[in-house]
Amino acid sequence: VRAPAFMDTCRRRYGDMFTVKLAHEGTWVFVCHPDAVKQVFTSDPNVLHAGEANVILLPVLGRNSVLLLDGKPHMAQRKLMLPPFHGERMQRYEELIGEIAETEIESWPAGSPLQLHRRMQAVTLEVIMRAVFGVRDADRLSQLRDGIRTLLDYSTNPRAMLLLIALGPERLTAKGLLDPVLKPVDELIFDEIRSRRSAPDLAERDDILSLLVQARHEDGSEMSEQELRDELMTLLVAGHETTATALAWAMERLARHPGALDRLREEVDEGEDEYLDAVVKETLRLRPVVQIVVRKLKQPMEIGGRLLPAGASVVPSIYLVHRREDVYPEPRRFRPERFLEQPAGTYTWIPFGGGVRRCLGASFALFEMKTVLAAIVSSLEVRPSDGRSERPVRRAITFAPDRGAEVTVERVARPVEVAA
Ligand code: HEM
Repeated sequence: VRAPAFMDTCRRRYGDMFTVKLAHEGTWVFVCHPDAVKQVFTSDPNVLHAGEANVILLPVLGRNSVLLLDGKPHMAQRKLMLPPFHGERMQRYEELIGEIAETEIESWPAGSPLQLHRRMQAVTLEVIMRAVFGVRDADRLSQLRDGIRTLLDYSTNPRAMLLLIALGPERLTAKGLLDPVLKPVDELIFDEIRSRRSAPDLAERDDILSLLVQARHEDGSEMSEQELRDELMTLLVAGHETTATALAWAMERLARHPGALDRLREEVDEGEDEYLDAVVKETLRLRPVVQIVVRKLKQPMEIGGRLLPAGASVVPSIYLVHRREDVYPEPRRFRPERFLEQPAGTYTWIPFGGGVRRCLGASFALFEMKTVLAAIVSSLEVRPSDGRSERPVRRAITFAPDRGAEVTVERVARPVEVAA
């Protein structure tokens, strides 16, 4: 829970690179100098394994997941998945995401405290089910929503975490201990995959699953049902809670910075999105929802001027890089303007990690955040229900606002247009 404070203390005491020995995990070497980060992100992925470091996710994601693979199998899977997530495609989801956000916002009660993190989870889950899975049928959507909620609640509860640590991911999978919560969701997903394969309008559909169904391996073969299932589960787990948390932080910060909120609303009303982009970047800088990424060394390697042994993990600290005073003056201040003055650097703004493991959904997440934030600020006034800033607390792999991003909203008063 105290990981950020721990990283701050180590950095103050030991500088830009420090080693921590963790029970069960071995040696972790944290790095936060941009040169060392660049080295980690650009060195041979066969030497720096990321998939191996994610094995804890195996029981839910399955063996084909792009997050768990390394080397050639990882690149093969990643190549299949990159085209559907290409930045330029994202505008196609604008209308859908905007509609989902507006329906959600309309249901918020004015004048009483509201936990936005919960509300953002509802939005990002709906976006994944419809834009990524491409589900349209209302009954199917409602079954999937319930199944996924049960699965995610179960896999983030502390008892399930203990079981996972005690048994290890391989044995947990072999014993099928997650089956009661996993199987119902799997069945719905397999069903969706099968019916999509034979959908008459497959070629015209825009959702990510429809594109993956049509993708081909290098040898011309299609993705198997199990591969498609594992990747859909990966996109759900990697994309739902992260984006919801980032949105919750954006609103937590904006509610406490009325000047930034007003400027954002003005620019959104004028149809501009430069400041909106800066707000999203500054939120992910100051409150990165994922604070570290991990690479396991398969061979000894020199990093940051030191020779590290095989078996050690190298850990670029997103959190520490984002708080470097030499890159970000007054690093603790929320000041979106800094990204209007200076573009985000490849190795100094790293909320999505980097190199051949950089988040596949980065463009999707940024686009979704902008669309949802624009919808909120253009129709609501937002105030914090309690002036104290919220603290980041750990929830599985993310760091979320401790009081759930609690705010009070009012509808923005708009001048009534009078017909001439
Ligand atoms: C604000 C929201 C998000 C944040 C902060 C985030 C962050 C990250 C980070 C830090 C990584 C690991 C990168 C590394 O090891 O270098 C990652 C990987 C990944 N993310 Fe995201 N993510 C977000 C949203 C999404 C979304 C919306 C999707 C898809 C719908 C997604 C899909 C993935 C996938 C598939 C990977 C694995 C890439 C690989 O191993 O090759 N993420 N993400």
